[in-house]
Amino acid sequence: MKILAIESSCDETAVAIVEEREGRFTVLENVVSSQIATHAKFGGVVPEVAARLHVPVLPEILGAMTMWKRGDIDAIAVTTGPGLATALRVGVETAKALAVTWQIPLIPVDHMEGHIYANILDTPIPNSQFPILCLIVSGGHTELVLMKAHGKYELIGQTRDDAAGEAFDKTAAQLGLPYPGGPNIDRVAKDGRRDAIDFPRPMLNSGDYDFSFSGLKTAVRYYISEQKKLSEQNVADIAASFQQALIDVLVKKSYKAAQEFNVNSVLLCGGVSASKELREQFAEVFGDTNIEVIMPNMKYTTDNAAMIGAAGLQNIKNGYKEIDPFIVDADPGKILGGKWKWEDETRGIVNKRAASMLTELSSPSTSGAQRFETSSVHEMHEVAMNLVGDLIKAHVVLLKGDLGSGKTTFAQGVALAFGENKPVRSPTFTLVNEYPVHNDKIDRIVHVDLYRLDKLDAEESRNLGLEVFLNDPRSLVLIEWPERSEIELDGMELQFTIEGGKHIVEKN
Ligand code: KG4
Ligand code: ZN
Repeated sequence: MKILAIESSCDETAVAIVEEREGRFTVLENVVSSQIATHAKFGGVVPEVAARLHVPVLPEILGAMTMWKRGDIDAIAVTTGPGLATALRVGVETAKALAVTWQIPLIPVDHMEGHIYANILDTPIPNSQFPILCLIVSGGHTELVLMKAHGKYELIGQTRDDAAGEAFDKTAAQLGLPYPGGPNIDRVAKDGRRDAIDFPRPMLNSGDYDFSFSGLKTAVRYYISEQKKLSEQNVADIAASFQQALIDVLVKKSYKAAQEFNVNSVLLCGGVSASKELREQFAEVFGDTNIEVIMPNMKYTTDNAAMIGAAGLQNIKNGYKEIDPFIVDADPGKILGGKWKWEDETRGIVNKRAASMLTELSSPSTSGAQRFETSSVHEMHEVAMNLVGDLIKAHVVLLKGDLGSGKTTFAQGVALAFGENKPVRSPTFTLVNEYPVHNDKIDRIVHVDLYRLDKLDAEESRNLGLEVFLNDPRSLVLIEWPERSEIELDGMELQFTIEGGKHIVEKN
């Protein structure tokens, strides 16, 4: 059985051919074309740019594959999500076209499941190590997933804000290190002391298996702002101490979960599993237990298509039922084995609040200054929901405030008000996130973060696809760090601050 796999969820265009041979998933061909160089100038991946680059590159690398003969391939696997909507679609539509033309099955694969299966590429397929606790750490995800059998997943913990890889990338940017931040922090941290600075270990003792790395990034920022000048040694110490704080949380929470769920194995995967320190400490903490530690070959840690092929082959082994390729579509907000943290809240709100929200939408704008104090995520969500009528009228909303002041939580609240139950996470990494909503007033919420940009000018705005949204009154555009913009942004201004531990929103 030979499978052709396509991956285009983020900034790697990747194609592979994987074969099941004598109980192994053998990689016959594996091509990854990275866009890193292009995105590095933005300090991270720009969705619109990523999608446009996949378009010419995907046929090119497919055409260059040597095993490219019709009749040779038994099925096609493609990443359908999670990932960037427009980027995913390039791979999905290409895969559909090939499956239809060749009349072979098309297998939609979850990107995170792909990361898990990266662990059994070129190595024998393990027999009975279930249940397996999977720590998935990538640029967009941090999840603890309990895998009870092939294809059976239960999400037991997830990040409430930034993903581990994203925290690496943002911290690297603050230290003047290039994108992607993970490998660069990894490199400079070698010359630093991991106990030099006592950064917080967010949610280490939260009593659940969720993560939060946004505060850690903020702590680094405060620390840097207190220093007069950063020497090379300072940078190395910050990198090492930051990395240790993050790894501590990942490793200790994984350990706790492994004990509680009584697993036979633990599995590490995702782009951040390339971190040497993480690998070492993850293996070490389970060293004195009977729990088997599974880690992917370094070459399959970051995004590739071979892992998608492995997951696709396993899906076939699990008894995959053939589906009509025409109904396969990209699913950007897919969550392996679970749901978004706030999904229940969304349902509650949609049921309970829909009526009052609609009256608010039709009532005249409340003008004048308003000040809201919030001391929990839920309260911030409430504030956003209460302002939603005004936000729609404004169409463009400028969210001004420091890192960690609650801007993204506010955006989550806005999305919740519309019953959006896909995760709304910080767009610092992606710059622009789009959430289609079904409402008679607007068609989408657009969440923008200009933090990583030196400046936003007309050309950049066009490149990002932002110009279209700014000119479309049916888009509700929320912009974090509007100070970076050189183009005039007319809209409602909301000021976010933290005073005495309280998060404050001010509307003028
Ligand atoms: O899985 P991946 O390739 O893409 C996503 O699906 O997101 O993960 C990319 C992430 C980036 O945030 C990058 O900084 C991080 O993996 N990464 C690392 C290392 N290599 C890549 N993080 C820490 N240490 C590394 N050596
Ligand atoms: Zn990935």
